[in-house]
Amino acid sequence: MTVPIAIIGAGIAGLSAAGALVKAGQRVHIFDKSRGPGGRMSSKRSEAGSLDLGAQYFTARDRRFVSQLQSWQAEGHVAEWAPMLFNAKAGQLSPSPDEQTRWVGTPRMGALTRAMISDFPAVYGCRVTEVFRGKDYWHLLDGEGASHGPFSQVVCAVPAPQATPLLAAAPKLAAVVAGVKMDPTWAVALGFDTPLDTRMQGCFVQDSPLDWLARDRSKPGRVSAGDTWVLHATSEWSREHIDLSREAVIEHLHGAFAELVGCAVPMPSFALAHRWLYARPAGNHEWGALGDADLGIYACGDWCLSGRVEGAWLSGQEAARRLLEHLQ
Ligand code: FAD
Ligand code: NAI
Repeated sequence: MTVPIAIIGAGIAGLSAAGALVKAGQRVHIFDKSRGPGGRMSSKRSEAGSLDLGAQYFTARDRRFVSQLQSWQAEGHVAEWAPMLFNAKAGQLSPSPDEQTRWVGTPRMGALTRAMISDFPAVYGCRVTEVFRGKDYWHLLDGEGASHGPFSQVVCAVPAPQATPLLAAAPKLAAVVAGVKMDPTWAVALGFDTPLDTRMQGCFVQDSPLDWLARDRSKPGRVSAGDTWVLHATSEWSREHIDLSREAVIEHLHGAFAELVGCAVPMPSFALAHRWLYARPAGNHEWGALGDADLGIYACGDWCLSGRVEGAWLSGQEAARRLLEHLQ
C-alpha cells in the first residue's frame, strides 16, 4: 500500500485537496482539532436548531467552482438562497435587491463539508502541534503527545496564523505564511418566539458595530424552533472587543440590531455568541497555494486567495495540483 498524504484541517480547503488527491489515486489521512469537518463553514447545533454562524452563503465566479457547484446541487448538498436583501447605511434601511446568485449548504451549511469528506479516513479532536520529517517520511505530533505517520507529503489547510508553527520544517514557507494577518469576527445568534415584523432576510450593514444580518430560517431546508437571526460584527468592532464576555457581546450586538432593523425587537428567547479568531485574511493574496515541493509540504486555505468559500476550495485544488505535478 502507498504511504498516505496527511491533510491537516477538514475545512473546505483541506477537503477540496483531499478530494482531488483521492481522485488521482492517492491515499489521504485527515486531521482536525474540532469535533467534525467544516471549519468556518460548520453549523452549530443549538436549542433553536442548526445555525450557520460562520460562512453565510457563497458565490461562484470561477468556472471550475461553478462546475463543482452544479454537481453538488444535483446531489442535493447545496441550494440557491435568494434572500430579500437590505442595506443599512448611516441608520437608513433600504431594500437592496440584486442579480447575484448565492448558494448555501442544505439543510445547513455544514452539510456540504460532511458530504465532501465522504469516507476518507479522518481523526477529529486532534490538534496537530508539530510536523516533522524523518529520514524518508513525515510525522505529526498532536496536543496529547501522540505521534501519527508515516506520511509521504503534508498539506496544511488551516488559517495562516495556525499554519505558521506547523510549517517550521520549511522555514522559507513558514516566513511567508507568518506575514499573513487574519481578522476576527464575533457572531451572535438570536431566537425570537414570535417572528419579527420585517420582510428582511439578509442585510449588508455600514456605520455600525454590525456588518451583516441574516434570517437563518429563510435559507432553504432550515428547520428552526422560532425566528432565528445571525448577526456578524465588523472586523474592527470584533478586534476592539475581542476579550469581552459572551453575555456582553450579545447585549451590545442585540442593541445594534434593534437600532437598525426597523421593527420592534423584543428580548430574545435564545441567544449565543461565537468568536471566530481567524475569520478572514486582512489583505488579499493571489498565491493559489504555497509549498515546498522538494520537501513535500504544502499550505492552502482561503487566505491564499479571496478569503471566501470559493477561494478556499480553489486553493485546495491548487495545492493538490502542485503536489501531483511534483510526483510525476
Ligand atoms: P477553515 O474552514 O478555517 O478550516 C481549517 C480547519 O483546520 C478547521 O476545521 C480547524 O478546526 C482546523 N485546524 C486548525 N488548526 C489545526 C491544527 N493545529 N490541527 C488540526 N486541525 C486544525 N465566505 C464566503 O464565501 N461567504 C460568506 O458569507 C462568509 N462569511 C463568513 C462569516 C464568518 C463569521 C466567517 C468566520 C467566515 C466567513 N466566510 C465567508 C469565509 C469562509 O468561511 C472561509 O473562507 C472558508 O470556510 C475557509 O475554509 P478553509 O478550509 O480555508 O479554512
Ligand atoms: P457578495 O457578492 O454577495 O458580496 C460582496 C460584498 O458586496 C458584500 O460584502 C457587500 O458589501 C456588497 N454587496 C453585495 N450585494 C449587495 C447588495 N445587494 N446590497 C448592498 N451591498 C451588497 O458575496 P461574496 O463576494 O461572495 O462575499 C462573501 C461575503 O462574505 C461578503 O459579504 C464578505 O464580507 C463575507 N465574509 C465575511 C467574513 C467574516 O468574517 N465576517 C469572512 C469572509 C467573508
